[in-house]
Amino acid sequence: MAAPVAQIPRRRFACYDYESQLARDSSSLLPVPTLETERLILRSFRAQDVDVMAQLFANPDFMRFSLGVFTERKQTIAFIDKVMGWDGVGIPSQFAVVPRDEDALIGYCGFFYHPEHQIEDIEIGYRLHPDYWNRGLITEAARAVRDHGFGDWKLSRVISLIHPENIPSRRVAEKNGMQVEKEITFRGFPTLVFGMTREQWLAKYGAR
Ligand SMILES: CC(C)(COP(=O)(O)OP(=O)(O)OC[C@H]1O[C@@H](n2cnc3c(N)ncnc32)[C@H](O)[C@@H]1OP(=O)(O)O)[C@@H](O)C(=O)NCCC(=O)NCCS
Repeated sequence: MAAPVAQIPRRRFACYDYESQLARDSSSLLPVPTLETERLILRSFRAQDVDVMAQLFANPDFMRFSLGVFTERKQTIAFIDKVMGWDGVGIPSQFAVVPRDEDALIGYCGFFYHPEHQIEDIEIGYRLHPDYWNRGLITEAARAVRDHGFGDWKLSRVISLIHPENIPSRRVAEKNGMQVEKEITFRGFPTLVFGMTREQWLAKYGAR
């Protein structure tokens, strides 16, 4: 169910040489790593995740500050196709969030692209099953994703796009070491751009 490459935004991102990555011989692609934190496993998405993710995408709390819940299964299939397609061509992608001590899939955390909105930076984006909120889990996941982005992908910069009223997400970005850079309109809504450069990451957290 891997996405055709045509679905992947084809352009050079300010922080990452996307075209060169896409042009690489696929035999040279590294397998997608699994990231591990104290309480979480962040693994790549699989076709078998559709059922659980469809339930999450239909949940209005999980979908707070989005364009709305998914009402059709094909929307979840498109999401999973998209991120598996990114994995398949070896570009920074989304991770399924799995608690270490449970056989469950409770959300996502990883990278998104928005070239259709003239945003050239790669976003760290996340959503979590509401039963697991306010335990510091997505902060843990976002830090691992940030370090993966700067440490493994050598990104020059990452951002998070957050509605000003989304206090929990703002806190996650702050705890992830990001700072508000500006306010823009994104998908018709006021949106804070939280950002962090590679230099800021190195200064705060050191080389990894
Ligand atoms: C945003 C989201 C992923 C955060 O996940 P989480 O695992 O609960 O986040 P954490 O526990 O790591 O951190 C949440 C922080 O927000 C704080 N918080 C939560 N609700 C709050 C409120 N109403 N007022 C003030 N602070 C609040 C928590 O106290 C915590 O901060 P602290 O560690 O300083 O106490 C989760 O709320 C979610 O999935 N929301 C719906 C989807 C969404 O908004 N995604 C982001 C789109 S930009």
